[in-house]
Amino acid sequence: MKDLTNQINKNTLPNHIAIIMDGNGRWAKQQNQPRVFGHKNGVGAVRKSIEACAKIGVNYLTLYAFSTENWNRPKLEVKTLMSLLVSSLKKELKTLQKNNIKLNTIGNLENLPKKAQIELADVIEKTKNNTALTLTLALNYGSREEIVNVIKNLSKKVVNKELTIEDIDEKIINNHLYTFSLPDVDLMIRTSGEKRISNFLLWQIAYAELYFTDTLWPDFNEENLFQAIIDYQKRERRFGKTSEQIEKIND
Ligand code: FPP
Repeated sequence: MKDLTNQINKNTLPNHIAIIMDGNGRWAKQQNQPRVFGHKNGVGAVRKSIEACAKIGVNYLTLYAFSTENWNRPKLEVKTLMSLLVSSLKKELKTLQKNNIKLNTIGNLENLPKKAQIELADVIEKTKNNTALTLTLALNYGSREEIVNVIKNLSKKVVNKELTIEDIDEKIINNHLYTFSLPDVDLMIRTSGEKRISNFLLWQIAYAELYFTDTLWPDFNEENLFQAIIDYQKRERRFGKTSEQIEKIND
């Protein structure tokens, strides 16, 4: 593995990286193993990505760990994903504390197994004052469901006269999303060669740079993550402005 640390500009790091971790099943199939073998090995890549972000000083990392659609997978696979979550949380609490990492979640946790809910609540509570990296796990998360909930909540507030229709703006919508405490995504990565967003953070990636790699998730490591950041840093982010306007701001 190459050490790419010195090719990264620490002053223009993406503040918030989101990752669609894809390809566990195909990775397992390549080795004639059941799909759950891929997920088990995917945990190692989760660890490596968190460590790499902490190492260079990325402030926010959000991982798509379980989507609202993932309930449709075979029962054993869902069960394995949930028990991997619980065992990883138990195992990694010490490392999170040592590295000053705060755990956060987005998604509807109510439908997760009780064990997972309890473990998550425990780790969230114990890491709540950590300040280096905010690690957000998207669990039973779906972007459209998130937006539907925002519309329902805002409608209720209008009906109850806590809010007028004119009050509704982007900031108010942001404050009602699961991600209310997170900044917009700067860089979204998807592994395994698929080029889709799959209902992940649709509102929050309005200006994000998208990075797709053929690497399957269990093989994803520090070098791959840093490569994505280097690629991101080569791009010019214009936010609707012209190149000339951006050059002036940077002067
Ligand atoms: C996608 O691969 C991966 C997932 C749906 C789950 C990701 C979960 C982990 C890496 C393990 C547990 C997570 C934590 C946070 C401890 P896929 O199954 O869709 O692969 P395929 O497209 O090749 O079938």
